Amino acid sequence: MFISYLFVFLQVVAFTVAGYANDPNVYELTPSNFDKVVRKTNYTTIVEFYAPWCGYCKQLEPIYKQLGKLVHQEGKYAVNVAAVDCDKDENKPLCSRYQVSGYPSLMVFRPPKYIVGDTKKPGRHVSETYNGERTLKAMWTFLQGRLKNYVKKFSTLKADGVQQWLDETDQDVDSRKKVLLITQSKAISPTLKSLAIDFLADYKFAMATATDIKAVTGLSFDINGKPVEIPVQDSDKLPLLITYNDETGEFVKYPGTKKDKNNSKKISQWLVDQNNGKLPHEGQLSKKEFKYYSKYRTGKATEKIVHDEL
Ligand SMILES: *[C@@H]1O[C@H](CO)[C@@H](O)[C@H](O)[C@H]1NC(C)=O
Ligand SMILES: *[C@@H]1O[C@H](CO)[C@@H](O)[C@H](O)[C@H]1NC(C)=O
Repeated sequence: MFISYLFVFLQVVAFTVAGYANDPNVYELTPSNFDKVVRKTNYTTIVEFYAPWCGYCKQLEPIYKQLGKLVHQEGKYAVNVAAVDCDKDENKPLCSRYQVSGYPSLMVFRPPKYIVGDTKKPGRHVSETYNGERTLKAMWTFLQGRLKNYVKKFSTLKADGVQQWLDETDQDVDSRKKVLLITQSKAISPTLKSLAIDFLADYKFAMATATDIKAVTGLSFDINGKPVEIPVQDSDKLPLLITYNDETGEFVKYPGTKKDKNNSKKISQWLVDQNNGKLPHEGQLSKKEFKYYSKYRTGKATEKIVHDEL
């Protein structure tokens, strides 16, 4: 009787305490993990500096949790959604370092551009305050605009640069494999940008717009002095994702169904398979995800179970 009473009591407490401690998609940051999450990454990070007692923070909380879910669970975009509880003494140095004067304060941190083969020390992250509307749509639109773009865009497949890009032979400088997305869309999607960031060390990405699959049929490019045809059938539909296989000297087509073309995990797995099993530096298949970020998710879940067993 007492035990179950206590159990209900603990549950009520868990639901009324403001903050993100029980939310697997919003990373609670402290001085000891802040730089690791925010700066040692090619991801863009949004940080909410909050105080559990503040009314506007409570208003933002459910929306911010939705943002975390959208980014970390549904889309797996190259964005970290994080929060700092400025009411905790240990976090106060962080909050003053970022000159937080009111709650909630939202800041966005953008990584420096990574250049393959560049041995210079990379630049610093750029931070800015987010002053836009505190809606899911407004925040997400803003963050999409702050994703680093590593996808080269060609207006059409026949544009001058495509042939050259596919046949770039300077392997000493940049030996990454190439992925090309052929699509009807004119804008680079956040999914494609995110994949390019995860696989920055392994693949270079480009995108070319085409009206339909007929515009691709029979098209070939000269690679290493040989014409290589894009393998399409009439039954194929855009978007089409291809990579060039150096060993066979052919293009390989991502085999996913229409729905799989939005599944960044399946696409990531395919990219890993095409690269002899080499895992990406960041993202859902990376060691970093397993060793570090998943701790936020599963780690928090474990804490919950400990409470329940009381
Ligand atoms: C960005 O990605 C590259 C390639 O994976 C990696 O070497 C570099 O350390 C990353 N930058 C940061 C700040 O983590
Ligand atoms: C894939 O995602 C795009 C944009 O996010 C959306 O417009 C499209 O309907 C999705 N397609 C499928 C098959 O789910």
